[in-house]
Amino acid sequence: MLHDIKENIRHSGREKNVDLNTSVMGTVFTDHMFICDYYDGAWHNPRIEPLEPIATHPAAMALHYGQAIFEGMKATLGKDETPLLFRPDENAKRLNFSADRMGMPTFPEDLFVEALKRFVAIEKNWIPTAEGTALYLRPFMYADEAFIGMRAATKYKFIIFASPSGPFFAKPIKLWAETHYIRAAIGGTGEAKAAGNYAAAIRPTEMAKKKGYDQVLWLDARDFEYVQEVGTMNIFFKVAGKFITPNLGGAVLNGITRLSVIDLLRDKGFSVEERPVSMQEIVEAFKNGTLEEAFGVGTAVSIAPVAEIGYKDLNITFPEHAPVGKDIKATLDAIKTQQLDDKFGWIVPAEPMAIDKG
Ligand SMILES: Cc1ncc(COP(=O)(O)O)c(C=O)c1O
Repeated sequence: MLHDIKENIRHSGREKNVDLNTSVMGTVFTDHMFICDYYDGAWHNPRIEPLEPIATHPAAMALHYGQAIFEGMKATLGKDETPLLFRPDENAKRLNFSADRMGMPTFPEDLFVEALKRFVAIEKNWIPTAEGTALYLRPFMYADEAFIGMRAATKYKFIIFASPSGPFFAKPIKLWAETHYIRAAIGGTGEAKAAGNYAAAIRPTEMAKKKGYDQVLWLDARDFEYVQEVGTMNIFFKVAGKFITPNLGGAVLNGITRLSVIDLLRDKGFSVEERPVSMQEIVEAFKNGTLEEAFGVGTAVSIAPVAEIGYKDLNITFPEHAPVGKDIKATLDAIKTQQLDDKFGWIVPAEPMAIDKG
């Protein structure tokens, strides 16, 4: 179905004065935003307009009760400079999974994808082109009803904005396996991309950084024994030639890069097991020399080789910094820029001409 998305376009030309290829993600923003309002039980007035601050009532419920969820995705340029999205339908589904868990209204998935296509086509000149760069897209939803009281809000905003993103971690990363704080318990909100999950992770992450680590490796909330995921990534280990990654199990974010990497590894002939991964297993593999590599995977970072995991008094190090992980990254980047055939059907062009208004 085609939606009536109003457009008020004002290109500033600012992108010509920004080095898009080295721009640090989240520091520079493009000219426009997509915005849609929820009230009276329905979404109204989808529109693309100049990006600007939005007045917020001090009683806006997201600020007090935390009904706020988001997505993260990237647009790249393909052959003939066509702007491309990567599996946007998966982000639409995950947004609605998060909305449902947080007692928020779902957003029509076809409108989500159509809005992204139109928005990215409009912001095409902001897409960086150097290897490993992209235009980061941030769709999100929050409760903006002014009300004091613990109940689901009746008014929300859904917005998409964008920021050019240079390459992420320059070096292989160091992780701190956290055995005091938790990110998520089964039955909690860990499988949703809820803003509050990140708020609760900030203090432990800052503490890990003070110890010299880049991010936290989260363990299960009951025994601090089973690996869940990394700050903003899912994780893969290679042990004795096989890949293992924690199963979702209710407390791990269903990463879209994770899903894609499982397919790519299997396609390259590797065995991949999705199952509980214990720290004991990782420590044993490290001690008997079968722990071959580990890497984090997520939209922002793509694939980040792990150099070291600090766990209690032990420094788990890796003989090589993710040779297979780097190969998978190269494949994924090549699919995302149409240098390799998209045999999985993951790429969605975002051309304005592709939108038939008839
Ligand atoms: C907590 C967490 N886990 C995993 C991921 C990876 O998910 P995706 O591959 O969909 O970006 C992210 C990033 O979005 C994240 O924030």
